[in-house]
Amino acid sequence: MNQEEMKQAAAVAALDYVESGTVLGVGTGSTVNHFIDALAGIKGKIDGAVASSVATAERLKQRGIVVLELNETGDLPLYVDGADEATRHLHLIKGGGGALTREKIVAQASERFVSIIDETKLVDVLGAFPLPLEVIPMARSLVGREIVKLGGEPALRHGFTTDNGNIILDVRNLKILNPVEIEERLNQIPGVVTNGLFARRPADVLILGGAEGTRSVT
Ligand code: A5P
Repeated sequence: MNQEEMKQAAAVAALDYVESGTVLGVGTGSTVNHFIDALAGIKGKIDGAVASSVATAERLKQRGIVVLELNETGDLPLYVDGADEATRHLHLIKGGGGALTREKIVAQASERFVSIIDETKLVDVLGAFPLPLEVIPMARSLVGREIVKLGGEPALRHGFTTDNGNIILDVRNLKILNPVEIEERLNQIPGVVTNGLFARRPADVLILGGAEGTRSVT
């Protein structure tokens, strides 16, 4: 099984968490795209979906799935999204696709967060994948200097603007031994909209697609 097939297997397994007559949150990325395609097969079962990005909203609509606004739906029973790295403690790094802020909002609004990944993304310590920060453009250089003080190496994601009109700094070299503490600390830097650590609100279930099939971590 190649990586794409492992992503697809994890995505299909997440369908088991979708309950009839509900609205669910849908994340962003290539793994979630497989989930959206699978969800289209049972679209009659759900009342609609809240999208975590413009790209996801478009794909959902193309597949005939009703897209609703979070402000209309209130809290959701389920959020399904991918991740760039995950630990057995269900802490994640997200934002490789730049949708981290809306993803964090929808995750926070959801009772159960199911993260779908291929097993190569399971790590002991987060941080080999550069940590994305969504930053208000005028704070780019200030935030960069603050990150350097923390020992990180920020790099501007060139040619990229988030759905919220902001920039992304990808930070290498942070020692993420205590993800909750680092998530909170980064949030305190003025100009940081969101950071890609999902530790204060971790996943509730991790579905891993692997060569031997799928397995879950809770
Ligand atoms: C999007 O901003 C990200 O958080 C994605 O969930 C993450 O990058 C995983 O993407 P893939 O499923 O494409 O690997």
